[in-house]
Order: sequence, then C-alpha cells, then structure tokens
Amino acid sequence: MSEEAPAVPRHIAVIMDGNGRWAKQRGLKRIKGHEAGAESARAVLHSAREAGVEVLTLYAFSSENWKRPQDEVQGLMTLLPKMLIKHERILHDHETRLRVIGRLHELPDRARKELQRVMDNTEAYSKHQLVLALNYGSRQELADAAKAIAAKAQQGSLNPEEVDEACLAEHLYAPDLPDPDFLIRTSGEQRLSNYLLWQLSYAEFYFAPEFWPDFREDAFAKALEVFQGRQRRYGGLSA
Ligand code: IPE
Ligand code: IPE
Ligand code: MG
Repeated sequence: MSEEAPAVPRHIAVIMDGNGRWAKQRGLKRIKGHEAGAESARAVLHSAREAGVEVLTLYAFSSENWKRPQDEVQGLMTLLPKMLIKHERILHDHETRLRVIGRLHELPDRARKELQRVMDNTEAYSKHQLVLALNYGSRQELADAAKAIAAKAQQGSLNPEEVDEACLAEHLYAPDLPDPDFLIRTSGEQRLSNYLLWQLSYAEFYFAPEFWPDFREDAFAKALEVFQGRQRRYGGLSA
C-alpha cells in the first residue's frame, strides 16, 4: 500500500454517536437507540471484515459517560453483556478476537465477566480484532501510561533517559495494535471526545451525517470510498 493512495485502512476507529437523538426522533427511550446501535455495530463489523480491515475499534462508553442519568448508564451496562451473548457467534464466524481498552476493572461485575469470557474464547484469532473502548478516556490512558513508566523508573527497571515516543506507546492499553488509519464519527458531531488522542495523530477523519443506528453497510461503503480519495503525507510531500 503506498502512502499516496491508501487501499483499505488496516485499522478503523469509530465514534458511534447519535443513538439518543435517533431514539428521540422516533419518540422512543434513549436505550432503544442504543439497542438499534448494537445492530449497526454488527453490520459494520461484518462490512469491515469483508473489506479486509484488520482492526475495528468502537467507542462504546467513555470515561465521561458516567455523568449520564443512572438509568441510561445502567441500561448500557445491561445491554453490553446481552449483546456479547447474542453476538459471540459472529466473532467466531469472522475469526475475530475481542479486546477491550479502558478501565475494565471499574465496570459492573456482570459486564466485566462476560467481556472476559468472550475475550478468552476468541483469544486465538490473531489476524482480525474487534476492540471495544469501554470506560475509555484517552487522557486517562496517557495518565495510566505515565504512572506505569514512573513506577518502573522508581524501581530502577527503566532509565528516565530512555523514555521516548516508543516507550510511551508501549505503555498504552493495547500497545501491539497499529495506529488507526481512519476515524469515523457519526451523527454530524465533529470532535474527538477524549478518544485515542495519541493514536489518531495521523489518521484521516470522516464525519458521517447519519445517526449511528442508521449507519449500516451502505454508509460504511461510502466512508471507505472517501478514505480512498485521501492523500496521506505524514508531514512529507506528495510524490
Ligand atoms: C452514542 O450515542 C452512544 C454512547 C455514548 C454510549 P449517544 O448516546 O451519545 O447519542 P446522542 O449523541 O445523545 O444522540
Ligand atoms: C462519545 O460520544 C462517546 C461514545 C460514543 C461512546 P458522546 O456523545 O459521549 O460525546 P460528547 O459528549 O457529545 O462529546
Ligand atoms: Mg452523543
């Protein structure tokens, strides 16, 4: 793949936004929007796999989403294990490994256990990965990395002089993943909301107008087309 004409992104990161507004438009409760959004996650996983994307990272719950009303937070935390049970088969069909980035230990027991179970069951698949950003915040991730590095320096296992970009990257939640090539945010909002600040440094951004529950196969295909029209220079010059 040349830098000038990217074919298929190796890693796509998605901010699945607009579930609440989608529900409101239909006079439904917000949780209905999240349920419909889970169907889009399934559709996009399928399309991404078909297109040859290796890693799909979905922003499912941010560190700041705890600020929402308790019934919505609880609804989301109940929906998650339900969806894992319902859709585990799809991960096996696609030979896709499930991973989580975020402070997993702070999630309710039920959600954590179900996640762990499916992560264990899919651990052997190495080529394709679905990463859920859950209780994830990029600033928290960077703070956690700084803390781990500082602890090693204090113990004497790491020389502060050796702290460089590579060292910091190695202390992120999923250091082995390639950086995302493409960021998709749905619902027309144009901001990062504390998502993958480090990893998205050179990603191409695409803001889709659809609310997430309406973002299905066709919308994904359109996004890929947009990506293919982009030119990536990484600070250099075009050939
Ligand atoms: C995204 O949809 C899903 C989560 C943040 C969990 P929203 O719930 O943010 O939907 P809007 O933005 O309020 O429409
Ligand atoms: C970002 O969406 C988080 C997820 C999609 C999980 P939000 O809806 O929480 O972001 P803001 O509050 O509009 O920035
Ligand atoms: Mg939102």
